[in-house]
Amino acid sequence: MNAKNTKPFSCRPAGPDPKNAAKKLICRQEMTKEDFTELLRAYENQEVRKWLREEALRLRKKYYGNQVFTRGLIEFTNYCKNNCYYCGIRGANQKAVRYRLSQEEILACCQEGYKLGFRTFVLQGGEDPFYTDERMAAIVREIKDSYPDCALTLSIGEKPRESYQLFREAGADRYLLRHETANEIHYRQLHPANMSLENRTRCLNDLKSLGYQVGAGMMVGSPGQTLQCLAEDLLFLQKLQPQMVGIGPFIPHHDTCFAREPAGSVELTLYLLSLVRILLPWVLLPATTALGTLDPFGREKGLLAGANVVMPNLSPPKNRKQYELYDHKICTGEEAAECRSSLERRVTAAGFTLVSGRGDARHP
Ligand code: 5AD
Repeated sequence: MNAKNTKPFSCRPAGPDPKNAAKKLICRQEMTKEDFTELLRAYENQEVRKWLREEALRLRKKYYGNQVFTRGLIEFTNYCKNNCYYCGIRGANQKAVRYRLSQEEILACCQEGYKLGFRTFVLQGGEDPFYTDERMAAIVREIKDSYPDCALTLSIGEKPRESYQLFREAGADRYLLRHETANEIHYRQLHPANMSLENRTRCLNDLKSLGYQVGAGMMVGSPGQTLQCLAEDLLFLQKLQPQMVGIGPFIPHHDTCFAREPAGSVELTLYLLSLVRILLPWVLLPATTALGTLDPFGREKGLLAGANVVMPNLSPPKNRKQYELYDHKICTGEEAAECRSSLERRVTAAGFTLVSGRGDARHP
């Protein structure tokens, strides 16, 4: 490609220039941690920000046109054996009102979702030992038997490789497991000692090698996060090359250790969405619920920064409030699956088209 025709600069950056990191990224050169740090510092620079946003939108359009994919999110259990300090459904939170859905209830959600036009279902839950590997595989099998034209995504945490293999053989297509932070010290600040970045990374690598489309990701503005941490997150994503990346602002939950911590920045989240779109141009990038929770137009802003996926809530309405990862999580309104027409209106108003279909990643 003749970069000169599309880029506002030459592709051979030279010398110490705050814009060089942005140029390197846009020109798809391999980035170092220092490059990413520079790029994150360039957040303050309106001109660089504009380039990056425009480039993110150009790439989004190149790979996906104006299409926005939808996934029906089924939050099927809020029991969790883990105790991540930021999360409202962490095991030690005795105030959380717990629920889990039966296989029949999960299938009923899929049936409803299928009628509404969803062709990807995401089964997300806490790490709940009730759902043994056998139970989980049976659920996966039944969904894939009933809806062979749909993609099935699991988001059920860290497991041994054998479990991932079993689910894959049962028919699961994709797996979401945010790495949360790629910095060891920061990881320790967010998680208790029985969890490790090493195991998280092992899980992601296992999932990839088993042929899943894999999603990693992180919160923006989680307690203790520095620019260096975010630079390491970007480096981690560059290395992992995941098909999906979930990025949302941290939002405090009143019954966690971080109740009094400030929420992450919507603007910085949008900036990171653009950076990730350029870093991984074919990536499936959701405009997350957390973004929509902090800003009434968060999802539209996310799409305009480079996101191309929305994940409306398909859980039984009576349980939605209980899947409370953070305070004031939106769960009625456009993010509810049954409000598809109003979601469609908003997506259209933002200049995009909401499409049905599995919405797989389009590799170059
Ligand atoms: N604020 C924002 N996002 C959160 N998550 C969990 N707790 C919070 C919070 N307080 C995110 C985590 C997890 C995903 C399911 O939800 O990144 O991976």
